[in-house]
Amino acid sequence: MMNDTTGIFEGVLQNAAKPRERSETMPSGVYTDAAFMEFETKEIFRKEWISVCHVSQVVKAGDFVRVDVGGEPMLVMRGKDAEIRVVSRVCRHRGMDVMPSGCGHPDEGNKRVILCPYHLWSYDLTGKLVGAPEMQEAEGFDRSEVCLHRYRSEIWEGFVFVTLSDEIAPLAEKYGRLKKDFVGKWDMGKAELVWSQHWECAFNWKILLENFMEAYHHLGAHMKTLEPFLPAKGCWTEPYDPEFSAMHLPLKKEMQEKIEASGDAGTPFPVFDGLEGKDLLEWGIYLGFPNFLLFTAPDRVYWYRLLPTGAETCTLMTTMIVSRKTLEIEDYEGIKAKEVEGGIAFHMEDMEVCAATQMGMRSAGYAQGRLSHLEEPIWHFQKYLAGRIKAQEAV
Ligand code: FES
Ligand SMILES: [Fe+2]
Repeated sequence: MMNDTTGIFEGVLQNAAKPRERSETMPSGVYTDAAFMEFETKEIFRKEWISVCHVSQVVKAGDFVRVDVGGEPMLVMRGKDAEIRVVSRVCRHRGMDVMPSGCGHPDEGNKRVILCPYHLWSYDLTGKLVGAPEMQEAEGFDRSEVCLHRYRSEIWEGFVFVTLSDEIAPLAEKYGRLKKDFVGKWDMGKAELVWSQHWECAFNWKILLENFMEAYHHLGAHMKTLEPFLPAKGCWTEPYDPEFSAMHLPLKKEMQEKIEASGDAGTPFPVFDGLEGKDLLEWGIYLGFPNFLLFTAPDRVYWYRLLPTGAETCTLMTTMIVSRKTLEIEDYEGIKAKEVEGGIAFHMEDMEVCAATQMGMRSAGYAQGRLSHLEEPIWHFQKYLAGRIKAQEAV
């Protein structure tokens, strides 16, 4: 029998099967339906590689980033042996989250030991139990055998990724072409994340993903911020690839001519070493499926960590990554403050658009709308989503 979610699945499959010229937006249930969210948790967030932090956020022993992926509370942590591990925050005593959200625990910081607030069991930086008070009468209890669960993780281009799957291929394979033909030039493993900010959002995670992936809205939402130098018209998308979508955002023509004539990109921060010639004439937008989001410029990369917290809510960490030599420029702090302010300004425009679009998804007035060629990455993402639906049905 066909239920609502089956209808949504069919709608997505139909979306993905259309030629680009006939592409349209997805059924609203994709952004509101709890059962569809359950499908995404199971088939995407618990089966795929999910980016959780940049290596420069966990430099010293004890540095950590807190994150929840696919319903799993996790800690990304650097050990005394310099290894980065992703461990569970679920205490091996009675199962409490050792750093529960909304209880004053920061999302990023440094700890000498992981201490569960419930009964004060303590774990070292690798997750091994090192202290458990008043357990001397627990027969056969050997604390050296107790360790927080460790998740499979990898570092790719400076980003720590985690997966709950034992089966999926390593990232070097999955994103091989994304690195070789596109983002490898930034050498992000050697770069520095210099700004991060956490946001709780009242919209489905894909509302922001789709917003991030198209430059059509520069015309409206970013009329005064991005459109003047990254005009919507002229943006173009690489042909569909099963692992990622890539869009080029050429700078305004006059700016390109000036850069070509002077050979100087004229950017506030120094240009990344691996970039030259045509690289200086455009920005780029990349989505490594399912949710690895990069907005690249010659002198900085904005990486967004986007994770669902419900069918109609998500959590977002916005970041800015620069080359290491940026930290030595004159008035670095002043220039950075100005650039962060600019990043927040265009992000606030997107936040308004996303929240207002989520309202539309709940309305009887919503109907699937036609897409512009400037929104091609949205159609690419529909193909990815359809692939996950088919993979589930094949089981
Ligand atoms: S649940 Fe963590 S110490 Fe008891
Ligand atoms: Fe935007």
